[in-house]
Amino acid sequence: MSQLTARQLGFALGAEVTGIDLSKPLNDLKRREILDAWHKHLVLVFPGQDLSAEEQIAFSRNFGALEDNESLPYYRDPAHKEILLVTNKQIGGKPSETRNTGRNWHADLTYTTRPAKGSLLLCKEKPAVGGDTMWANLYLAYETLSAPLRDFLDRLEAIHDFSLVKGVEQRDPEKVAELKRRNPPVAHAVVKAHPETGRKSLFLGQRIRGFVGMTEEESAPILAFLNQHATSPEFVYRHRWSVKDLVMWDNRCTLHVALPDFDQTKTRHMTRTSLLGEVTGRVLEEGAAPQKEALLQTIASVS
Ligand code: OGA
Ligand code: MN
Repeated sequence: MSQLTARQLGFALGAEVTGIDLSKPLNDLKRREILDAWHKHLVLVFPGQDLSAEEQIAFSRNFGALEDNESLPYYRDPAHKEILLVTNKQIGGKPSETRNTGRNWHADLTYTTRPAKGSLLLCKEKPAVGGDTMWANLYLAYETLSAPLRDFLDRLEAIHDFSLVKGVEQRDPEKVAELKRRNPPVAHAVVKAHPETGRKSLFLGQRIRGFVGMTEEESAPILAFLNQHATSPEFVYRHRWSVKDLVMWDNRCTLHVALPDFDQTKTRHMTRTSLLGEVTGRVLEEGAAPQKEALLQTIASVS
């Protein structure tokens, strides 16, 4: 008999899973139960998991191959390339470059052609108050749009751009230049069917420059509307972390944001593993976003 319990935390998404010790190997039944709960609730919170890096990696591997974080090589745990350190602890006597990770709504690694399938974030240390994270349900965001707008979006691609990661300009300029070279802008469909549930969702966020084939002027208001719609309070779950919470989210049908709602002189230290996703994007060729001026020229040539 199963003792694994999933208690819903938010109406739109999120459930707390108890009755399981993630440091122990999983049998097939438990693995299946977790996957089913994940597909249903999108964000699973496992409280009280005191995992070592090796244990976090081993648990994560139950759900697929892991990212080696090659697109963000400076922020890895030196001993484990699968672990990204999301921390405001000093590293080598300098402020950590990941202290402001995730400060705008995003899904992980969408600025690569292979966004993460999911991520698992473990809270090691946190300030007494705040340092919360919010997640939004992108299935609901899509399903609550009108039919004509959904039809329009079904055929659209968006341009995801690493330069739009919030706070990137505060990082070491040389590292950032290299990260930009490694991560040129990529196009992803705005609407994707989830490979496991088959359900369609929006695939957006605040690291998007615009839509392929459209000008910035055309893209900006549509993008702003869609992001605002997708992150409406009724589609959001806000997590107040406790140390030893492991949160596992589905990156294909949610967005998340890390809130700076805490005393930045206090330590917040998290370790992240990410599940390797499918290749769903393509690197863009020049001219993917036409300029308004160029389009205006067509008036001159037809009149
Ligand atoms: C991440 C991220 C959120 C947080 O690790 O992918 O966005 O609250 N972090 O630290
Ligand atoms: Mn993130």
